[in-house]
Amino acid sequence: MTEIRFLGHATFELSDGTTTVLIDPFLTGNPQAAVSAEDLSPDVILLTHGHGDHSADVVSIAKRSGATVITMLEIADEYQQEGLENVIGPNIGGTVEFPGGSVKLVPAAHSSSTPKGTFSAATGLIVEFGGVTTYHLGDTWLFGDMELIGRRHSIDVALVPIGGFFTMDVEDAVEAVRMIGPRQVIPCHYGTFPSIEVEAAEFKAGVERETATEVIILEPGQTHTL
Ligand code: NI
Ligand code: MN
Repeated sequence: MTEIRFLGHATFELSDGTTTVLIDPFLTGNPQAAVSAEDLSPDVILLTHGHGDHSADVVSIAKRSGATVITMLEIADEYQQEGLENVIGPNIGGTVEFPGGSVKLVPAAHSSSTPKGTFSAATGLIVEFGGVTTYHLGDTWLFGDMELIGRRHSIDVALVPIGGFFTMDVEDAVEAVRMIGPRQVIPCHYGTFPSIEVEAAEFKAGVERETATEVIILEPGQTHTL
């Protein structure tokens, strides 16, 4: 059993009742944020790429909570230099175990640099946790290997950016869902800024017309249980 709480933009918190996993913490400066960074005490923090609208609160939350941070190697190196002690830095294709689960880094078609200027590759995350396979796509455009990712992993729920401008738009995201073939999908990375205002209802209608996948639209702060 996994509870998936949407905290706004691309920030999600997964919980199996014992372990809490925080993905892409962007609360400070996020107009959609459902909670403040100080409210969160995760055991593990996963980060798809370095951009501030994903990484803003990684260091402050990890320093306070002692959470293990797992992200691409170059960003992990930066965080170690910042004084974080529990940092693990694999590369694309690598799998890292954590208490209660594991995460595998997969490609994303996007750029990645931290606010401090560390360049790296952007990733998606395949998270095996609580008996559920969650695929957080990170920021990405549609790319052909999504089909391969869907073939290699039986995805229960995909967390898919739909806002356009920085990522896939609604129409491309519908095609991404068709290629990945998840059981359920939760849209994200829209509505936060004027450049990514889209209608999630259009995404839902498109996915349910083109695929057998169920679309769950969460407002920031809402939880979905699998
Ligand atoms: Ni980005
Ligand atoms: Mn982003």
